[in-house]
Amino acid sequence: MKLCIIGSGYVGLVSGACFAEVGHHVVCVDNNEKKVAQLLKGEVPIYEPGLEELLHRNVAAGRLSFTTSTEEGVDKSDVVFIAVPTPPQPDGSVDLSYIEKVAREIAAVLKPGQYRVIVDKSTVPVKTGEKVADTIRRYNKGGAEFDVVSNPEFLREGCAVPDLMKPDRIVIGGNSERAVALMQKIYEPFMAPVLVTDINSAELIKHAANSFLALKISYINAVARICEASGADVEKVADGIGSDKRIGRNFLNAGIGYGGSCFPKDIAAFIAISEDLGVPFTLLKEVEKINSTQRERFIAKIREALWVLKDKKIAVWGLTFKPDTDDVRSSVAVQVVQDLVAEGADVIAYDPKGTEKAIEFQLIQGARVAKSPLEAAQGAEALVIATEWNEFTAVDLAELKNAMHTPLIFDGRNLLNPETVRNAGFQYTSIGRS
Ligand code: UDX
Ligand code: UDX
Repeated sequence: MKLCIIGSGYVGLVSGACFAEVGHHVVCVDNNEKKVAQLLKGEVPIYEPGLEELLHRNVAAGRLSFTTSTEEGVDKSDVVFIAVPTPPQPDGSVDLSYIEKVAREIAAVLKPGQYRVIVDKSTVPVKTGEKVADTIRRYNKGGAEFDVVSNPEFLREGCAVPDLMKPDRIVIGGNSERAVALMQKIYEPFMAPVLVTDINSAELIKHAANSFLALKISYINAVARICEASGADVEKVADGIGSDKRIGRNFLNAGIGYGGSCFPKDIAAFIAISEDLGVPFTLLKEVEKINSTQRERFIAKIREALWVLKDKKIAVWGLTFKPDTDDVRSSVAVQVVQDLVAEGADVIAYDPKGTEKAIEFQLIQGARVAKSPLEAAQGAEALVIATEWNEFTAVDLAELKNAMHTPLIFDGRNLLNPETVRNAGFQYTSIGRS
């Protein structure tokens, strides 16, 4: 089939590449000229495992192209996906101005006699589909036919390609049989269970799913506090409760909290949406509170051990919001660096993929950066592990101890084995493992 994706970011670009991989013809549109120029040169603007090969292969096969022209994308395609950002506003509600703008842009280039399915892939509040349809109707002067569908994405950065190629489920929210049938055809090659719903339910599924996952993380982080107070081990507790199939072990890893471009904004949005609808979801406020205090408690542990942070040389491993990505948006690791810098510490950070973006977006001002984990640790009075990159587990502990001025490790992601690290001569603090 012929598809167009508007917005070539972490969601749009990977989705486009995966659609092309299963044989569809995909035009990726983006209004960022620099990004499109990069893509046309074969450069990949983001780091996502497996993406580069996928892009090169499908461009070479003539199934994937890039443009800044919405008209070109809409003209060439049967189905148009919207994957532009839906950032949070100061009160937590969603800024839908990009969605509205793109809806107008699509309407302006729709031609008489055309039929297009417009798919909302961005995460949007329930009832946005209705507004998108109203907007297109209003600006579609030629009277072209169209239907609006909601098709939320569930990809995790760092494993977005396998998540898209082998999805747990596909959600298609649509009120038109014609549009739903086309959507089912698009997803046929993925051989995944398809759930067809009305538009409002599909939109709600996304916010409810992300909020539930965030709730699971905050739940285990709250349990971790009880483990610390009682001498239990949160990893064992998570294994014990997670092996119950009704609960599941995934997303029960205690740490310094969830971050990224989705969970913090989606939970805030769901709170705002529920309040708007007159049914406040207060449980989610507690989820948010546990999440933010989790980092504060971690910083307090560092302060307690080092007494004064001012002028202390502290190495931080990890800047991205999770491993296997270069994404530093709303990263708890970056917030940890900012907290330490604010207290006057001399922070030297290392991240395998995120350093460039952290510097570009001016997120780690006042901190220095290193080119390797050991370089960061050189002369450090403490080491903080803020993101659980696999690379960190390969560092030789004897070399690390030699490099550091004083051997203190604060492991915010429970990456290392406490016994091994303590046997190597470190004073080791982690989350929920006393
Ligand atoms: C996406 C979704 O859109 C968001 O709703 C979801 O919750 C998370 O994932 P993401 O792909 O991470 O966002 O955003 P980003 O990487 O910033 O990509 C968005 C792209 O859209 C950018 O390349 C930007 O240049 C482009 N864009 C933005 C347009 O092409 N047109 C616009 O009007 C605005
Ligand atoms: C999330 C959802 O998982 C995905 O389905 C949705 O479409 C987009 O949002 P993403 O934000 O890319 O994906 O990554 P995810 O793996 O969910 O991690 C989010 C945050 O939660 C990270 O900061 C991660 O470190 C944290 N996390 C995750 C934990 O602290 N503990 C866990 O057990 C799992």
